[in-house]
Order: sequence, then structure tokens, then C-alpha cells
Amino acid sequence: MSHVLITGAAGGIGAAIAEEFAAHGALLTLTDRDRAALERTSARLGDGAVAHAADLTEPDQPAAAVERAWAERGPVDVLVNAAGRYPSLDMADLRAEAWDGLLAVNLRAPVLATAAYARLAMEAARHGSVVNISSGSALRSRPGGGPYAASKAALEMATRAAALELGAHGIRVNAVSPGFVPVDSDCNPVSEEYAAAIGGNPLGRPGTPGDIARAVRWIAGPDASWVTGEILRVDGGSSTGALHLPRIWPPEAPAQPPAPPSRPAPESTEGQSR
Ligand SMILES: NC(=O)c1ccc[n+]([C@@H]2O[C@H](COP(=O)([O-])OP(=O)(O)OC[C@H]3O[C@@H](n4cnc5c(N)ncnc54)[C@H](O)[C@@H]3O)[C@@H](O)[C@H]2O)c1
Repeated sequence: MSHVLITGAAGGIGAAIAEEFAAHGALLTLTDRDRAALERTSARLGDGAVAHAADLTEPDQPAAAVERAWAERGPVDVLVNAAGRYPSLDMADLRAEAWDGLLAVNLRAPVLATAAYARLAMEAARHGSVVNISSGSALRSRPGGGPYAASKAALEMATRAAALELGAHGIRVNAVSPGFVPVDSDCNPVSEEYAAAIGGNPLGRPGTPGDIARAVRWIAGPDASWVTGEILRVDGGSSTGALHLPRIWPPEAPAQPPAPPSRPAPESTEGQSR
């Protein structure tokens, strides 16, 4: 039975990832800052799940969460870093506190949790798998989303850098990058106007937390054993381009079929004498 540690597991995408692994028989250690919601999620998942509340912006908490999970329930086979915040922060209004607080949870926490996990796995000579939850914002910002986009772009580079160094130890490090997925979160509210504007994608339906969870389980697991340093975009194709833009130019009218060759007009005999 594999042991999976999931951060940000109280609700939304993190909780769906926990449900996906639970449905396939995994032992779960769950962590989140929101103690009450975390305990509700954990209770729903039954005896296989254990929950510990922690604020991962505290510098020592990401490593502590991994070390406690490992010590209490045995070696961790998969670490999923899903805790994250996407506040509205305009670039011109930024102050150090807001920037540091955002990067502490979106970037420093997954990086430090991965480092602690790598040390434990290497010490125990065990293979392992890390999945970071990135975002389509890593490729394309939006008004008020600059610091978030920057945090996820850096997380994608950190994912590749860790994959490069840890591959020799049998530790794979990948990311799943969701497109917009409605989750109804208190911690990460989204306006109706924003949800309506961002919702379109080539596959024509909104994403669900389950879409993301299935991709996470696949890339974390043995079927992806030769995949590392990959950023798997699970977004209905929305990162392929800007579907909502109008055509660059109206299409030209279809060419008319060529006219049949005209026969030479019969010469007029009018006025001719034989
Ligand atoms: N929903 C989307 O459209 C979407 C798209 C792309 C990426 N993501 C990413 O998916 C992940 C999950 O987000 P979600 O949409 O499910 O939102 P969510 O708000 O439901 O989940 C985020 C979780 O992280 C927890 N968290 C926040 N700060 C924390 C801290 N300091 N310590 C511990 N836990 C903390 C929250 O309590 C919450 O349970 C995030 O990393 C987010 O950036 C979401």
C-alpha cells in the first residue's frame, strides 16, 4: 500500500487528489492550514487518512510535515504539494509582506518539502515521486495575478531543477498545471465575472478537481516511471492559444468555380451575299 502525503488537502483540488488516491487504496497523510475543513475531509476518507494542520508559510513547517508523516506512518511514496493561494495583488501595490507571504506558500513550501523528502528517501535508499501543482498562470499572467504567475513560473523551474538532481536517486519530480477549475474556496475566492471570462477552452467544458486528481495519480505512479521534470498541462487545451479572440481577418469568400470556356460566337452572316 503506498503512502501519499498531500498538502492543501482540506478542499478543492487537494481534497480531490486525496479522494483519488484513497479510492485506489493509498494510505494518506493530509495537511492544510484550515484545521476544521481538513478534519472534515479526512473523516470522509475513513481510517486510511490521518490529518495534521500546519501553516506552511512558517519556515520549518514544510520539512516538519514530511518528517512527521514519514516517522508516524512509514516511508512516503508520493508527495503532492497542492497548498496554494491566488490572491488579487496588483504589481504597483506590492509590498514585501504580501510578496513574501505568497511566495512562502506557493514556492518556498513545496521546494522545502521536496528537499526534506529527498533527504529522507536518499537516506532510506528508496525511490520516490513528487508532484507540484502549478498553474496555467505560469505561462500567462492576468490583471492582479502577476505575483501568483511569478510564483508558479518559479515553481515550474524548481520542479525541473529538482528532477535534474534527484533522478539519479530514483526520485521523480513533476508538476501538474491545471487550467481554471471552479472549486468554491473561502481561501481563494474568484469573481463570477472572472470565472465566466476565463472558462472557455477548446474542449468546451469546465475542468473539475477530479480531472486534475487523475492526472496527478497517473504522473505520480508506476505508469509514468520514465517521466520526470515534466509539466503536465491539464486544462482542456486552454494553454494552446487564445480561443476567445476574434479571427485576425474575416475569411475570404470562397473562390468561384471557373467559368466554362466560352465558344466563339457564330459569325454573323447578316448582310453577306453568297
Ligand atoms: N482552481 C483552479 O482553477 C486552479 C488553477 C490552477 C492552479 N491551481 C492550484 O491548485 C492548488 C489548489 O488550489 P484550489 O483551487 O483547490 O484552491 P483551494 O483554496 O480550495 O485549496 C488551497 C488549499 O491550500 C490551503 N492553504 C493555503 N495557504 C496555506 C498555508 N499557508 N499552509 C497550509 N495550507 C494552506 C488552503 O487552506 C486550501 O485548503 C493551488 O496550488 C492553486 O494555485 C488551482
